[in-house]
Amino acid sequence: MHLKIAVIGAGNVGAMVASRVIDADLADVVLVDIVPGMAKGKALDISDVRPLVNSSANIIGTENFEDMKGSDIVVITAGLARKPGMSRDDLLKKNSAITKEVSSQVKKYCPSSIVIVVTNPLDVMSYLVMKTTGFDPKKVIGMAGVLDSARFTNALRVRNQNIDQDNVLMMGSHGDTMVPINRSENISEELFSETSELTRNRGAEIVRHLGTGSAYFAPSASVFFMLKAIIKNEKKTMCVSAYLEGQYSEKDIYIGVPAILGVSGVDKIVEIELTEKEKQAFKESARQIREGITHIL
Ligand code: APR
Repeated sequence: MHLKIAVIGAGNVGAMVASRVIDADLADVVLVDIVPGMAKGKALDISDVRPLVNSSANIIGTENFEDMKGSDIVVITAGLARKPGMSRDDLLKKNSAITKEVSSQVKKYCPSSIVIVVTNPLDVMSYLVMKTTGFDPKKVIGMAGVLDSARFTNALRVRNQNIDQDNVLMMGSHGDTMVPINRSENISEELFSETSELTRNRGAEIVRHLGTGSAYFAPSASVFFMLKAIIKNEKKTMCVSAYLEGQYSEKDIYIGVPAILGVSGVDKIVEIELTEKEKQAFKESARQIREGITHIL
């Protein structure tokens, strides 16, 4: 018996998440989008891959939120990407409205689900989903740290093959104030700052090349990584945007921290020792996220 995952937003990230889940035979998928026919067309296409990958997981596409009923996990990718001329505030307002609307549907049709949030600005939208659904914060998790940490490790590995993934990570916000952490002795100060900067700007670099749209291969792989940890109860530690209640001296905020993921969502926030410099950077990141939160409440 497969679990059921609802993916809201059948755009680049949502469709690719659905495709990865079906290819891996991980769960059944309900793909939802407000654009007529879009989710349905993509779901039919993804479904036809099943004989090629020997998957028996089912997928449907729909405009009807009711079809999400009974989903065990919901992935929210619905939203707008920032367009030229659009301020961060405009994006915040637009995506807040979409996220609020979508969260009420999740509350109505999937009241006991775990929710993974992808819509930007990520940390603020994760907070909004938790508030709107009223779900236990352990069951609302933002996807950013897995992606930013993968980008960071990849940038380092391109320059030095011997980087151990467990020794580098990205904490803090999914934005300009992300906090790079290095616990490896193989990385020089110079390499560390070069690759941190590259990671911070990676999303924008990809957007610049694409012209329209933004990254979705690594973002969807990051969501899949989290889904697998939850469904298979892996109890794996990874960076996610999670709700803090005093950890890292912060509370009532969603921000990127290492956490253990399992079948009930966030099993535990892992508190690693931070240097003074890292503590300051994390604090600044939290301040920026709080500023975003005050705009949406
Ligand atoms: N309900 C359902 N779907 C919606 C809604 C809504 N209220 N509003 C918008 N959508 C859908 C759009 O129709 C679109 O198909 O969300 C989809 C978003 O897809 P893309 O524009 O391709 O964006 P994508 O690259 O997938 O990114 C999704 O992740 O990185 C973040 O900020 C980014 O918010 C964006 C999200």
